[in-house]
Amino acid sequence: MAKRAVVFRSKYGASKKYALALGRMIQAEVIENDGLTPQLVEEFDSIVLVGGVYAGKITGLDFFRKNAVDFSSKRLAVFAVGAVPDSLENTEDLRKRNMKGRLSSVPVYYGRGAFDEAVLTFVDRNLLSIVRKAASRTAPEKRTPLDNVILGTTEPVSWIDESYLSGVAGYMMEE
Ligand SMILES: Cc1cc2nc3c(=O)[nH]c(=O)nc-3n(C[C@H](O)[C@H](O)[C@H](O)COP(=O)(O)O)c2cc1C
Repeated sequence: MAKRAVVFRSKYGASKKYALALGRMIQAEVIENDGLTPQLVEEFDSIVLVGGVYAGKITGLDFFRKNAVDFSSKRLAVFAVGAVPDSLENTEDLRKRNMKGRLSSVPVYYGRGAFDEAVLTFVDRNLLSIVRKAASRTAPEKRTPLDNVILGTTEPVSWIDESYLSGVAGYMMEE
């Protein structure tokens, strides 16, 4: 049987929840991104990175971009976790922005995470208030999906749903 790993980078816990659920579904070892080493990666046949989306960037990808590990013989996938509603356009946009160069053929899946302003760091809260001000000054028809979420989400909310994992789980179980 293929030896699988789910690697996650999670700031506020949503990606961690998805990573733990996916690990159970595909019988994979679940590892924090910070603990990754090229030697550890060598042990696995297939790896999924689960990472939160911040300002359009999927976190945790740097290890896969920069390390001199040969991924060509491994099955890789990315599961991005964000606040924007799921759509083909959003996933395609994330793929284009984040999966360049050697990662361009790695498939990207998406699941909606959670949002609770009260737990944000000082820096994130400031960033959010800047983005929210800008969004409120943008004409409604020109607002992005993220603008709409930021303007419309003032109470803590969780959109976490394990059914988002079915695509990536199926892909990882193919081998
Ligand atoms: C400062 C900030 C920027 C964010 N940027 C985006 C974004 O560009 N796109 C998106 O879909 N979600 C965005 N989010 C929402 C997070 O991706 C969402 O809360 C997710 O659940 C975070 O996952 P984590 O808890 O595993 O880090 C942002 C959240 C914060 C606090």
